[in-house]
Amino acid sequence: MKISSINKTEFLAMVEQSLKNAIGYGNFVIDEGMRYATLDGGKRVRPLCVYYGARATGRDAEADEVVCLAVAIELIHNYSLVHDDLPAMDNDDYRRGKLSVHKKFGHANGILIGDQLLTLASCVLLDGARAYGSHFARAAQEITIAAKRMVQGQAIDLCGCQSEEDYLDMYSQKTAALIAGAFTAGAICAEADYEQVEKIGEYAENIGIAFQLADDLLDEGNENSVVTLIGEEAAKDLLLQKTEKACAIVREYFVGEELSAFAKALAVREK
Ligand code: IPE
Ligand code: IPE
Ligand code: MG
Ligand code: MG
Ligand code: MG
Repeated sequence: MKISSINKTEFLAMVEQSLKNAIGYGNFVIDEGMRYATLDGGKRVRPLCVYYGARATGRDAEADEVVCLAVAIELIHNYSLVHDDLPAMDNDDYRRGKLSVHKKFGHANGILIGDQLLTLASCVLLDGARAYGSHFARAAQEITIAAKRMVQGQAIDLCGCQSEEDYLDMYSQKTAALIAGAFTAGAICAEADYEQVEKIGEYAENIGIAFQLADDLLDEGNENSVVTLIGEEAAKDLLLQKTEKACAIVREYFVGEELSAFAKALAVREK
């Protein structure tokens, strides 16, 4: 089945089923914790980024391959959230309207549940590389590089930022990297050419920063954000500018409405 013949709802249902299969039905605390962290809630933004990346270039990709990449990046994203909430990081007791993973399963298990989600993502990507071959491995590499950048961004976040430029660099790494990695992985899976991969990466970088700005605007208690530094109005302007820049890249290099509609939908999200 080709990704061009699958709509967004069908794709997300495939991802959900595949996430369940990947995590499995074990009854050890780590299995239960992974299910708790991953299967109940989450907007699935990064899987959608892989989906749109695979559809953007006018070439086509096998749906199973795109789902596999999407599952891996969603596992990585969920691991990042489990660790992000830990007392040594943001120390958040709640996520997605329920107790955060370390509050529910204990601090040490929180660390291990995050570790295991990341390890599972490696298993998923390597299974994919064995099954689908070298173009898939190349796509998978985009995801692992993005995961490294995300960690780098989280480390910069912990150090604190002094200027708007510092914040935008931190956002680029901690948030836009996974979003851009998802898009470029999808595009590579669809055998996109070099320029298409480059341009979809630029588009995604812009929407990724806009996504973190929207998150910070919604997250009133967070002092360590560019909103505190430049104020709400300037942050909203910046969010608009990044979204417009993303749409300008789409107009110049891609066809159809899908990518612009996605950028605009992310910019006005409510949670
Ligand atoms: C939260 O990401 C972390 C950020 C990078 C802002 P999401 O807002 O995509 O989280 P879920 O997966 O939908 O809960
Ligand atoms: C999260 O940034 C970025 C990650 C890489 C996990 P935040 O710390 O702002 O995310 P939330 O607000 O806790 O979801
Ligand atoms: Mg954080
Ligand atoms: Mg946080
Ligand atoms: Mg936040």
